[in-house]
Amino acid sequence: MRILSETSYAPDPDFAAAANGKAELFEQADADFEGFWADQARERITWAKPFTQTLDWSNAPFAKWFADGQLNVAHNCVDRHVEAGNGERVAIHFEGDQGDTRTITYADLQREVSKTANALQELGINKGDRVAIYMPMIPETIFTMLACARLGAPHSVIFGGFSADALHTRIVDADASVVVTTDGQWRRGKPAPLKAAVDESLTKGDHPVKHVLVVQRTKGEVAWNDDLDLWWHDVVDRQSDEHTAEPMDAEHPLFILYTSGTTGKPKGILHTSGGYLTQAAYTNSIVHDVHPETDVYWCTADVGWVTGHSYIVYGPLANGATQVLYEGTPDTPHQGRWWEIVQKYGVTILYTAPTAIRTFMKWGNDIPAKFDLSSIRLLGSVGEPINPEAWRWYRENIGGGKAPIVDTWWQTETGGIMISPLPGLTTLEPGSAQRPIPGIAAEILDDMGEPFTEPEKVGYLVLTKPWPAMLRTIWGDDQRYRDTYWSRFGEKYYFAGDGAKYDADGNIWLLGRVDDVMNVSGHRLSTAEIESALVSHESVAEAAVVGATDETTGQAVCAFVILREGFEDDGDDTVQELRNHVAKEIGPIAKPRQILVVPELPKTRSGKIMRRLLKDVAENREVGDVTTLADSSVMNLIKDGMAKG
Ligand code: WTA
Repeated sequence: MRILSETSYAPDPDFAAAANGKAELFEQADADFEGFWADQARERITWAKPFTQTLDWSNAPFAKWFADGQLNVAHNCVDRHVEAGNGERVAIHFEGDQGDTRTITYADLQREVSKTANALQELGINKGDRVAIYMPMIPETIFTMLACARLGAPHSVIFGGFSADALHTRIVDADASVVVTTDGQWRRGKPAPLKAAVDESLTKGDHPVKHVLVVQRTKGEVAWNDDLDLWWHDVVDRQSDEHTAEPMDAEHPLFILYTSGTTGKPKGILHTSGGYLTQAAYTNSIVHDVHPETDVYWCTADVGWVTGHSYIVYGPLANGATQVLYEGTPDTPHQGRWWEIVQKYGVTILYTAPTAIRTFMKWGNDIPAKFDLSSIRLLGSVGEPINPEAWRWYRENIGGGKAPIVDTWWQTETGGIMISPLPGLTTLEPGSAQRPIPGIAAEILDDMGEPFTEPEKVGYLVLTKPWPAMLRTIWGDDQRYRDTYWSRFGEKYYFAGDGAKYDADGNIWLLGRVDDVMNVSGHRLSTAEIESALVSHESVAEAAVVGATDETTGQAVCAFVILREGFEDDGDDTVQELRNHVAKEIGPIAKPRQILVVPELPKTRSGKIMRRLLKDVAENREVGDVTTLADSSVMNLIKDGMAKG
């Protein structure tokens, strides 16, 4: 099978000279694994009580890192920067959906987080109590997360797009006694209710909630329950802006974040304090190459996802970085909104997802071209494999043809980046996340659980050593933790659930979730690889591929494509051309049996394509549950197209 990328990109010596990621890190980590991580933890984190033990793996797969040390995570992300004389440095440039802005320095952040911590304490939150956070992308969300960290009260952030049902399950599972929310959230210039979903979730059965703290954001109408509801401005504003952070054990729980599993019940991924913060800060420094004195960093993820936790809140703030926080959507009020923000703040580092990049490709090169993006010096990608075409478009049109791109593989469970190029050091291979970063160990196993290094052979990605930011368990379900991650290939290997292969240079290519790997006539094909082939055709903006059951071949390749602006759907001609193109790019075996030109693809609110639903269409089944789609009407458009075609 041919690798789609033909060119790699050598590091720029000027970039390399100033880069945080140095080759010595690999040598140090190889020579002394635990010593390496102990050094990172000591260098990057301020410990209230220094640790003497690094890793305790005696009760594997339950890890303890830096267990006899103590720290306060919020003190590390806020107070110590003020104490070091950097209180006037901007922590957050907030850009609201309505064009309202707010500049928050580290000294401001310290006051706001202290007030919020005092307020939560007044509402009965003590060390160990859980707080649910259901909020949009506004500064108060970050204040609340850090206030929880300050009190040692694990937060559970629930993405603002989730339904009342999802909210209820998560509030109950975590036994959260306080919920922090807003009256509403701005969406594409219009107010949408948010508290209403909290209200509804609390009617769905017994719940542990004693208070709902409500930030006024949109000033929309809200129902009010005097027994539970409190306005943020009534409770938080009158608090003292001083609060002393108490040190916590390194293994004290920091947060729970729910992620979907293969079965119905969401998994509450548990992260703890010292190890998580160490890896978040370390990776943000060596992978995103953040230089806190000079960079303006922008991670476009929502704080409701792990990327927002590690690379908006904990990593960058632990490093004392200056960052942009944007509340709105990329196309409101116009399709150049992001680039306008980059220009306005002089963003130097941009971290986003392939789905966004492909959307911008679809909108056209002329949109970013209208803005001055020359401040950008590094680009990042996360969430799914990035097609080489999208990679090149990103580098050319956003990165001025020179910015290195870090394609970062990791998961909610890993807490921080695991596999990624190091900018300035790695010769970049578009489409591949390349190598485990220093201190991380990964392998690819075959069906029998044997590691191999043979190029182009497809296997399963596993992690072979514990790492500081690893999940500690699934909240309340140690057995499910073992079963899900540590049983597929035995207790030695963390099973990531992703397919992967090496290329001839030893780079790792992630091939999508294992269930996205198809078997066509005994050949293993990756949905991601065929999608890349389709997107490499000049007419295709976005593509999703599923394996549909086929009597002859086991599975057959079915593709759904969105055409770029300016290209017409010429029916059979278009389909034939694209089928031939895939055959040419990968091989005849990968030729889609069926290609459907569609106006939109079904995506979750985090931007992941829901291939399960497309599979239902491809296999002529009733389409399954669409409630987690960002726009549930998309499936009707697709089915209508299918009926016509
Ligand atoms: C996928 C997001 C390829 C992968 C941080 C993983 C990726 C899942 C990449 C985790 C990447 C994430 N290349 N695939 N650079 N990054 N993935 O928990 O399938 O939302 O298992 O964490 O996303 O998704 P999660």
